[in-house]
Amino acid sequence: MKINIAIDGPAAAGKSTIAKILAKKLNYTYIDTGAMYRCVAYFALKNHVDPQDEMKVCQLLKDIHIDMKADKIYLNGEDVSKKIRENEVSMQASSVSRYKDVREFLVSQQRQLAKNGGFILDGRDIGTVVLPDAKLKIYQVASIECRALRRHKENIERGLESNLEEIKAEIESRDYQDMHRDISPLKKADDAIEIDTSNMTLEEVSQTIYKLVTERVNELC
Ligand code: DC
Repeated sequence: MKINIAIDGPAAAGKSTIAKILAKKLNYTYIDTGAMYRCVAYFALKNHVDPQDEMKVCQLLKDIHIDMKADKIYLNGEDVSKKIRENEVSMQASSVSRYKDVREFLVSQQRQLAKNGGFILDGRDIGTVVLPDAKLKIYQVASIECRALRRHKENIERGLESNLEEIKAEIESRDYQDMHRDISPLKKADDAIEIDTSNMTLEEVSQTIYKLVTERVNELC
């Protein structure tokens, strides 16, 4: 039996890294919902539409088609997996995620994708809005220092320019915006299990969640 797993939490908490490890271990399908908001922001920027202009951004939705295949994300057939990770796109993804039409457009696709069991979705509103019936909900957090340092190291490993203080400021302002928006703000679902990964290795986090999944599946069988 396969269940659906929701992983929510603030920016750069390592949700996608853990979700990918778990998906492999469990033979589940991983859906990166943040990448979908990033696609909307990227598409607006590419078409010279101001991401702060709600009406104009929402008018673009009819021309946006997102596909996910084998760890890659395609926007209208173009592989945008790398481009959507750029700093400007991160901040603007948070901005466009405030809009009702954008959320409805993406949430309905996310629910459709995960309509059967066996999916791991990570994001901000998975346990609260997208999959309120998910059989396991994780709220993954880590201190701001830890999150910024991990992102900084990742950038350096990838050969990207990186400034620790700038990363910290960007993460903090994105979290503030994601937690204080009117629609589906980031918050822990009442029935979510909080895991603070600040002092944990990837192996420890994935083992902890893996154990929770097997326990939950056994309970349900
Ligand atoms: O997970 P991420 O950092 O790639 O997400 C980018 C932005 O998208 C994030 O700052 C807020 C938004 N987002 C959201 O509102 N709801 C989700 N389920 C996932 C992401």
